[in-house]
Amino acid sequence: MQTSPPPRTYRVKSFGCQMNVYDGERMAELLAAQGISPAPEGEDADLVVLNTCHIREKAAEKVYSDIGRIVKSGDKAGRKPLIAVAGCVAQAEGEEIMARAPAVGMVVGPQAYHRLPEMLERAVAGERASDTDMPAIAKFDALPERRKIGPSAFLTVQEGCDKFCTYCVVPYTRGAEISRPFASLIDEAHRLVDAGAREITLLGQNVNAWSGEDAAGRAVGLDGLIRELATLPGLQRIRYTTSHPADVTDGLIAAHGEVAKLMPFLHLPVQSGSDRVLRAMNRSHTADGYLRLLDRFRDARPDIAISGDFIVGFPGETEAEFADTLKLVETVGYAQCFSFKYSPRPGTPAATMDGQVAPEVMDDRLQRLQAALNRDQSAFNAASVGKRCAVLVERKGKKPRQWLGKSPWLQSVWFEGDHAIGDLVEVELVEAGPNSLAGRVLQPVHA
Ligand code: SAH
Ligand code: SF4
Ligand code: F3S
Repeated sequence: MQTSPPPRTYRVKSFGCQMNVYDGERMAELLAAQGISPAPEGEDADLVVLNTCHIREKAAEKVYSDIGRIVKSGDKAGRKPLIAVAGCVAQAEGEEIMARAPAVGMVVGPQAYHRLPEMLERAVAGERASDTDMPAIAKFDALPERRKIGPSAFLTVQEGCDKFCTYCVVPYTRGAEISRPFASLIDEAHRLVDAGAREITLLGQNVNAWSGEDAAGRAVGLDGLIRELATLPGLQRIRYTTSHPADVTDGLIAAHGEVAKLMPFLHLPVQSGSDRVLRAMNRSHTADGYLRLLDRFRDARPDIAISGDFIVGFPGETEAEFADTLKLVETVGYAQCFSFKYSPRPGTPAATMDGQVAPEVMDDRLQRLQAALNRDQSAFNAASVGKRCAVLVERKGKKPRQWLGKSPWLQSVWFEGDHAIGDLVEVELVEAGPNSLAGRVLQPVHA
């Protein structure tokens, strides 16, 4: 590689899950601390960080088309932007990227991005640099202060996964389950609130596997962390995602009934409604066990909104097994959901299982599943009409005096009035669409 002038502007593009969004924000802070500015909207950046996702084939292949686009745009302008590939594709296919994409100067895995500044120095000197080490949690201590942020912030509390579902790359790309220490999380939460956050969403690939020791040295689970965060003045709302059924504790369920700042929303993926498929997926729970867990959450917090993830077309899935998934969906009545076609991932056990399902069968099942999920989401929104709730204002709408925020149940709510981003506004939900609701302002709760 040739030497290049030190970059003056950067852009971080994050794909995949919310943990990548969090990492993307932290990388942006790291680059800003080096004196590099965010590239203005619509302008090419001197340094582009592609913060990638490896979960499905489509997501993983996207990185190569993005690199091509950046190179082409640079050629047109007669310049060579520095390109860094970060995230889960970097971790899984670092060497392949270096070989396939000569324009890439840096490859940095999700546990190594605190070393980006050193790598950048090497790249500027014309040396390609790759770092996909997995030092346990070192990155969090090596990152700069949190910047001014919006009213809703992410906080990664747990990383990695030991569950090894047979279809999934996450245990390989993110490594083993690690919990960040209690004290450093409370500290970061304080800083987020000081920087403007009113809501914090605790993140982890298995967020409810988080464990630690509180200030008094007592062993605590995620509910203990939530209870401590709830005492932070200025913090109004707490959420967490993504949870695993096997790590649900009595304490977490109880917290939903007892901690007012903990929002009535639960993202608890089940993947399939068939016990045979769940076993083949290595999910360690049955469909019925999952439903019983939901009953307990609903006993603790009757209005809790349920969300989940599904995979259709897992190897060997029969029509009858898929029908069990539809039946489970009908029983649960999800408020919202994500659903995917199974994508065979290199190195995972399911990729070489017998009975890979034909693409057209997967298409058909996905369509039917999504029709059911859309129906339930619309029904959930329609049933919310008439409710009064607080909405956290997240941004301005297109029309003057129009605002967009989130209900406690994570629905997008539009309303009009004289407000500011970060306000909690009491509204009555008056009209429901499939993806959002209209609210009528009753009174501001907090300025
Ligand atoms: N840790 C979370 C999910 C992380 S990945 C959990 O276990 O619930 C997010 C979602 O992507 C998964 O819930 C699953 O529905 C989907 N997914 C993961 N691997 C996939 C694959 N190989 N093909 C299709 N979807 C997949
Ligand atoms: Fe992947 Fe399963 Fe771990 Fe979720 S629990 S990240 S689906 S291996
Ligand atoms: Fe994708 Fe990695 Fe998240 S594979 S879903 S970015 S953990």
